[in-house]
Amino acid sequence: MVNEVVTEQIKEDVIKWRRYLHQHPELSFQEDETSNFVYDTLCSFGNLAVSRPTRTSVMARLIGRTPGKVLAIRADMDALPIQEENTFEYVSQKPGVMHACGHDGHTAMLLAAAKVLSGMQDTIKGEVRFLFQHAEELFPGGAKEMVEAGVMDGVDMVLGAHLLSTMEIGKYGITYGAMMAAPDTFEITVCGQGGHAAHPHKVADSVAIAAQLVSNIQHIVSRNTDPLENLVVSVTQFIAGTAHNVIPESVYMCGTVRSFDPMIRKTVPQLLERVTRGITEAHGATYEFKYENGYSPVINDDKITAQLEESIIDLFGQSALELFTPCMGGEDFSAYVDKAPGTYIIIGAGNPDKGITYEHHHPKFTVDEDALPNGVKLFVHSALKLLA
Ligand code: NI
Repeated sequence: MVNEVVTEQIKEDVIKWRRYLHQHPELSFQEDETSNFVYDTLCSFGNLAVSRPTRTSVMARLIGRTPGKVLAIRADMDALPIQEENTFEYVSQKPGVMHACGHDGHTAMLLAAAKVLSGMQDTIKGEVRFLFQHAEELFPGGAKEMVEAGVMDGVDMVLGAHLLSTMEIGKYGITYGAMMAAPDTFEITVCGQGGHAAHPHKVADSVAIAAQLVSNIQHIVSRNTDPLENLVVSVTQFIAGTAHNVIPESVYMCGTVRSFDPMIRKTVPQLLERVTRGITEAHGATYEFKYENGYSPVINDDKITAQLEESIIDLFGQSALELFTPCMGGEDFSAYVDKAPGTYIIIGAGNPDKGITYEHHHPKFTVDEDALPNGVKLFVHSALKLLA
């Protein structure tokens, strides 16, 4: 059935749209041309109620003939500030901006799924809501804005997908439960007392104190957290001093905290501040401490994930299925699964035979376009299945 509705025409469309989007990338929160293109393309299908939840996002609602549940499917549309180094004929036409994460493919696949499903309105029970999201790559992210604009109102289930160049084409990854971490951030300033480097006894050396702080922060993961739980605490910036003979007044550092468990997430800022207070006080310095929560973790729903597992096996066979290992990266898809149960799936799009092996966000990143029609099939199949 799905193999019949995803026609040769649809396969051509999805690749054509992906190439157009690839040539015209736009940065997060600036997706004006992209969202216009998506809006106009959706309007051309008929049967869809198309709207703009925010300035650069698009929503299309397909309301079936019989009442039922509401399924939302989300694609992200933004590109990255990277100068493309690929040489195919449809490379980015914008210097310094590139679709280096596959969001062009996500948008094209969801457009194609909307085209297929809009032609099947009579057989659809309930509603399919297509969410074309801006700004996935830049905190605070577009998902939160779209949710605030009401796109999840009345939604019972939500689905999202990411093409992955490091997973081989033909493979589909699912994860039960926690899949992507909550990426939180911290900033610490160690405030000592500066002075001449020849007289360290007359100062409170912020560099020596901050160096101890970096070491002691490692204890939060290794000594304060259950070894069977997942947590990352990394200092990623350390800024101090201007000369070889001056002990600086202060040191600035910042970093990231990645976790899945809400209790651990709540405890880390307290532990970080406790260590900071202890170390600075012990050496006669003071501190400033800032902590900011990022996206929530992406936690997949077991029942919906099981349905996707069945769809993958139905369409592509048992050998296509892979259990995808959770990772400590963040993804603002969590804003949707905070509102309704859902699942985020991975579509393999790498192909060493074609030289498609570069990691995401690399200037030579690309996806095997043969993955796109299969992604459309998976969206269509799982939409019909979840709403049946
Ligand atoms: Ni991405």
